[in-house]
Amino acid sequence: MEKLVIEGGERLRGTVGISGAKNAVLPVLAATLLQQGVYEIGNVPHLKDVITMINVLGLLGAKSTWVDEHRLKVDTTGAEGFEAPYDLVKEMRASVLVLGALAGGRKRAVVSYPGGCAIGERPINLHLKGLSLLGCEVGMHEGYVDVRAENLCGAKVHFEKSTVGGTENILMAAVLAKGETVIENAAMEPEVVDLGEMLQAMGARIEGLGTPVIFIRGVEGLTPCNHDVIPDRIEAGTFLVAGGLTRGNIAIENANPSHLTAVIEKLREAGMEISEENGVLHASMSRKRPAAFDIRTLPYPGFPTDMQAQVMTMMSIATGASVVTETIFENRMMHAAELRRLGADVMVVGKQAIVRGVKALQGAKVMATDLRASACLILAGLCAYGTTEVSRIYHIDRGYEAIEKKLGQLGAKIERKKDEGVAP
Ligand code: UD1
Repeated sequence: MEKLVIEGGERLRGTVGISGAKNAVLPVLAATLLQQGVYEIGNVPHLKDVITMINVLGLLGAKSTWVDEHRLKVDTTGAEGFEAPYDLVKEMRASVLVLGALAGGRKRAVVSYPGGCAIGERPINLHLKGLSLLGCEVGMHEGYVDVRAENLCGAKVHFEKSTVGGTENILMAAVLAKGETVIENAAMEPEVVDLGEMLQAMGARIEGLGTPVIFIRGVEGLTPCNHDVIPDRIEAGTFLVAGGLTRGNIAIENANPSHLTAVIEKLREAGMEISEENGVLHASMSRKRPAAFDIRTLPYPGFPTDMQAQVMTMMSIATGASVVTETIFENRMMHAAELRRLGADVMVVGKQAIVRGVKALQGAKVMATDLRASACLILAGLCAYGTTEVSRIYHIDRGYEAIEKKLGQLGAKIERKKDEGVAP
């Protein structure tokens, strides 16, 4: 086990580069199962979740090799597997994204049903309902979802709740279905658009990406393609917060500011100066403490739930009280208790947290409970007095590429060390 040890109080300065988006690369990799052949995927981040997806693809018969540091060649020639086992799906619930690709490409998918996770129950009922509407026979046996998709045909799929993974799975299944599919209340997240653009490059006929209604006209076959993954908006947002919290002055390269509108708006409300010049984001904070602000997490283009924990850290040292309303996941406030260990004044009532800003946080030993909670605690360590030790950082390695190196480049005092004291 490893931990991150942070000496707080350094103002961050300098330039940091953003990696490819975790939530975009996972469905993009899954999509290589739609059509056998050779793909080259660029801007692939080195993350634990990416390795898990490569392993899932490997079990399904694909061979993946790194062409250069961030370019992955995926060869699905002759790959005929259709079963994603429990051991891998339990490690990463996004493995469930192979469902749609296998249904479309192999006409059969047997995928372990993902369990709940640290932030909520996260069922996949809407994915399965959508697949049934497309003519799939969906069964369950011994914890596995078994999808038979011999008669895949277009249909209207109306999602009662906006779902990123659900939209991605239906998109992948529908591109090879007979006839037209309409997805209503589709997720508009940039990662869904990125997947859709890859599918278009493969010859899929899709309209309406990035809007709540997506039209897909099924085609007979697809062609493998090369695709570059979009930058990670959550990583970029996390660095923006780091710059603000430490009263720093940083430049963020290779981000897409248009994907960050809701986050930037809130950080400006907190007092940050954020501007864009030639594609580079410049972020600084001249106020001593941030101003209080409220957020309500919503599907894109609303404020992302994946940035909720990080901004809670900023609220915890604000001049006044802020309110967080989490509308996406039912249990995404676990970081509040750990933040309290650093002196934050956070009261959680159901899906809301009231954060009364304190003058400063004090370093302490804390434990990460999930990916974005780890980011929140690292951010807290950066602005706290004294030493903060964040244990269970395997969560952070799932979704942030080389976070301590990137923060170190900006002047943070942060080190990865062995953690003897914590059992997994
Ligand atoms: C994706 C992201 C995750 C992000 C989330 C919301 C990936 C790999 N992960 O997760 O980082 O936090 O979007 O932006 O892209 N729901 C159902 N039934 C379903 C599907 C979803 O009830 O069949 C619910 C979920 O429990 C949740 C809400 O819908 O409450 C949104 O979930 P969804 O958009 O599907 O999230 P993921 O795709 O799992």
